[in-house]
Amino acid sequence: MFEEGQLYSPVTRQADGQVEVHLGENHPGFKDEHYRARRNEIAAVATDWDPREPVPHIDYTDEENRIWATVCTELAPKHEHYAHSEYLAAKQALGLPTDHVPQLEQVTASIKPLTGWTYITAPGLVELREFYSSLGDKVFHSTQYLRHPSEPLYTPEPDIIHEVIGHANQLASPRFSTLTAAAGRAAQRLQTEDALKFLADVFWFSLEFGVIHEDGLLKAYGAGILSSYGEMDEFRQMEIRPLDIGQMGTLNYDITSYQPILFAADSLDQLDDVVGVFFETCDDETPDRVRRELHLTS
Ligand SMILES: [Fe+2]
Repeated sequence: MFEEGQLYSPVTRQADGQVEVHLGENHPGFKDEHYRARRNEIAAVATDWDPREPVPHIDYTDEENRIWATVCTELAPKHEHYAHSEYLAAKQALGLPTDHVPQLEQVTASIKPLTGWTYITAPGLVELREFYSSLGDKVFHSTQYLRHPSEPLYTPEPDIIHEVIGHANQLASPRFSTLTAAAGRAAQRLQTEDALKFLADVFWFSLEFGVIHEDGLLKAYGAGILSSYGEMDEFRQMEIRPLDIGQMGTLNYDITSYQPILFAADSLDQLDDVVGVFFETCDDETPDRVRRELHLTS
């Protein structure tokens, strides 16, 4: 669903040191004590991680590896059909395993020679400024848990399948890597929360849920679409608008339901010319300037 990539279950540490992941009542694993204990265990590893140490290794269970394999098998034909060729080429170049969950260290070892990215662990939500600023240094905060086994093709929150199949395959493309790093450098430059939110919204409608015309067909390049079985069936039914930074940065959207409006680039070059140039040039005044141009403020 479109909430994927945004909604993280809160992670807290109790007074006794116990790390707890607070799943919502509608989460498929809400009533599964075994799953909840596993989520707590993986979140604790990330919470306790010292960034001076190697990224933690998770000993994935057979069931978790099966979820990964099932999703890889199911997504592969959809990618061939719906993903932009730039993503497909990058996915092939990265060559991640399809039969078991890769360690983040392995993701880094594969992607770094291609485009320079490092994957590090995150227990859940990473604060907006920290997450985006890290992108400017080609560091990607990734969760390590998997979705609930009862619904291998659905997750209400971004698990390692979203972070790696969606984002790492995308970031293995030099072009999407450059765009993403430019967004990160913008976050390092911007001071106001308003400008940062505007940037995050443009990112949402491009690198998370962006679509693009290719050879007369609408293809997806956004990680949120390409990591989601359901999304790939739906995106061509949405209202498709041309790239427009003003609209992308100001449109109100509901992350818990289908996003009815998507923005399509005519080509990768146009994506660079519009979104890339915005990332390279935006400043703290940009949101107000855009709103004035759109007559959203007096
Ligand atoms: Fe994402």
